[in-house]
Amino acid sequence: MSEAAERGVRYKGPDLKRLGQAILEAVGTPEDLAAIVAGSLVDANLAGHDSHGVIRLTSYVAGVRSGQVQPGARAVVESLGDACARVDGAWGWGQPAAHIATDTASKLARANGVGLVTVGRCNHIGRLGEYIEDLSRAGQIGLMTCNSPPAVAPYGGYTRLLGTNPIAWGAPRSPGKPPIVVDFATASIAEGKLRIAHANGSKAPLGAVVDKSGQPTTDTAAFYDGGALTTFGGHKGFGLSVMAELMAGMLSGTGLSSDPDYSNGNGTMLLAIDVGRFLPASDFMEQADALEGRLHAAPTAAGFDAIQMPGEPEWRSRAERTSEGIPVAGATLRAINDLAQELGLSPI
Ligand SMILES: NC(=O)c1ccc[n+]([C@@H]2O[C@H](COP(=O)([O-])OP(=O)(O)OC[C@H]3O[C@@H](n4cnc5c(N)ncnc54)[C@H](O)[C@@H]3O)[C@@H](O)[C@H]2O)c1
Repeated sequence: MSEAAERGVRYKGPDLKRLGQAILEAVGTPEDLAAIVAGSLVDANLAGHDSHGVIRLTSYVAGVRSGQVQPGARAVVESLGDACARVDGAWGWGQPAAHIATDTASKLARANGVGLVTVGRCNHIGRLGEYIEDLSRAGQIGLMTCNSPPAVAPYGGYTRLLGTNPIAWGAPRSPGKPPIVVDFATASIAEGKLRIAHANGSKAPLGAVVDKSGQPTTDTAAFYDGGALTTFGGHKGFGLSVMAELMAGMLSGTGLSSDPDYSNGNGTMLLAIDVGRFLPASDFMEQADALEGRLHAAPTAAGFDAIQMPGEPEWRSRAERTSEGIPVAGATLRAINDLAQELGLSPI
């Protein structure tokens, strides 16, 4: 493999999506669901989050083979009255279930001002920002969180009792402006990013991992050898993670990450707020633009050449990768192509 291939050859999003969809269909996923899941993975790559992109195809196929994912199952919505609903993901693909939850929350918010939807029996939903961007485009504020398998230690401890429990918020913008999207794991590092660092032989950031006896380490292997991730921002990220367990894990009927029989998915909660109920949506967007203007115009501190709004890095990455293609690291490419060949498909 050449050095360029190890660094990552660029592929156009639609080409990667086509291969991803074919792989998912080859393991029993109906065409429409495969298109949604493959589209979500490629969108994560476009947004710059390769940890949640096509690299996941191998673990997703492994999930089908182990019985964790029922590739043909379809999510079902149940009204809970007023502005509340729950989605049963039926252990099918998480992304279609999360999209149904997003549409449902958005409709409820349009009708009632707010909409609250949970998703239970839900596999991995990927990058939460994707759903929040949909709400932003619909003129709504979104708040989404989920819990996930135990990987993170409580603040002051070192055993795995919490998921990486991401939280995402977003707000609507004027047309043509990047949506404001705050979207991150409550762990110091998303597990997918640690996995990439581990595969590349890179070090973990100091403070992000503790080994199985509670000692801080930069050795990524220590996590896989019984260690744990820490929460970001000490007690602050810890507090957010606890709330993700209670709001998403419990309200969705999934349970807590620390339960001995916690399943391998994402108990999910999504709140949509229709901005127009509280003030004219145009006023909200004008103020958001004004805030962005002030933040962008502020002097930068040492080591920074610009101040960006939350959501801006993903917006910039999407523009650049849509035009230049998505760099796919050599190891990821080899894994996807091996999988394609094993399933009788042409590699990319
Ligand atoms: N489904 C799951 O189980 C699961 C679990 C963990 C994480 N995730 C996903 O993983 C993805 C990555 O999470 P992460 O913790 O690595 O995110 P991250 O640390 O890369 O932070 C991303 C957020 O920070 C903002 N940001 C980044 N740089 C910025 C800058 N210079 N100025 C202003 N804002 C900036 C981005 O716009 C975005 O909102 C997220 O999309 C998350 O939803 C999913």
